[in-house]
Amino acid sequence: MPTQLESLRKHSLVVADTGDIDAVARWKPQDATTNPSLLLTSAEDPRFRHLMDRDMDRVFVNFGCEILKHIPGRVSTEVDARLSFDTEGSIAKAQRFISLYEKAGVKRSRVLIKLAATWEGVRAAEKLEREGIHCNMTLLFSFAQAVACADAGVTLISPFVGRIYDWHKQQRKVDDIPLEEDPGVASVTRIYGYYKKHGFKTQVMGASFRKTGQILALAGCDLLTIAPDLLEKLSKADGEIPRKLSASSEVQKLKLDEKTFRWMHNEDAMATDKLAEGIRRFDADARKLEKLLTSLAAAVPAK
Ligand code: E4P
Repeated sequence: MPTQLESLRKHSLVVADTGDIDAVARWKPQDATTNPSLLLTSAEDPRFRHLMDRDMDRVFVNFGCEILKHIPGRVSTEVDARLSFDTEGSIAKAQRFISLYEKAGVKRSRVLIKLAATWEGVRAAEKLEREGIHCNMTLLFSFAQAVACADAGVTLISPFVGRIYDWHKQQRKVDDIPLEEDPGVASVTRIYGYYKKHGFKTQVMGASFRKTGQILALAGCDLLTIAPDLLEKLSKADGEIPRKLSASSEVQKLKLDEKTFRWMHNEDAMATDKLAEGIRRFDADARKLEKLLTSLAAAVPAK
């Protein structure tokens, strides 16, 4: 009997969602994803002190380069959340990341630039993709965000499961929502069906999981990015996992202009709350990381 992780790997490409390089080395995923909160946690860890620098972009790229030593595929590096409503600023930041990676000998094909799936973020990604800079659209909670990303021809989207589940649990004042009714799982299932039915090339990578059941319910998703604790659980449980997702959708092909996108996204209270909160949280963690870098630099006498 295979483990759940072995079985899942037959249907989906497994990605490690972590800034912990030792965990990446242990799980040997194809790809890996980071975000400002994960990198803050790793930056606070003395094991990774050698990757610190005064410049936060360099720290992100240092982690990315180190992660790439352990995986055959791509690493995702996230643009500062402060630029979430700034198309030109996001493009400039993405170009800087790519230039730092290229100086370190890493080809752009091995990097995915993560951008918040705001209207401005999607426009930045559309332009970056034309320069051969591949993008991973994050903080994706609404169907409108998914439609806009596919329309823009981005490489990959990361629709969140756990944060949608968290929001509904809080609203309903319950401790759990069964998988069959899980709104996070339903959101990714809907997006995947729509993309595949209409032949979009944008890949779907389910992200932000709270329990293994949510991951297994999305078996067949192009990619699934999973935190080390959940990879551990999947590797310890046995089970043949059936494919769950299919290319079916009731929704006709949509094309959204800015007004319609903003209206449709705003109609979704969960997505509006979670996108705004997600930007605030990533920003807060990036500022904490900046402070940490300043204090580390102050502790080391200038050469
Ligand atoms: C990965 O791309 C996301 O940043 C990550 O899965 C978010 O997970 P969280 O909701 O547990 O923070």
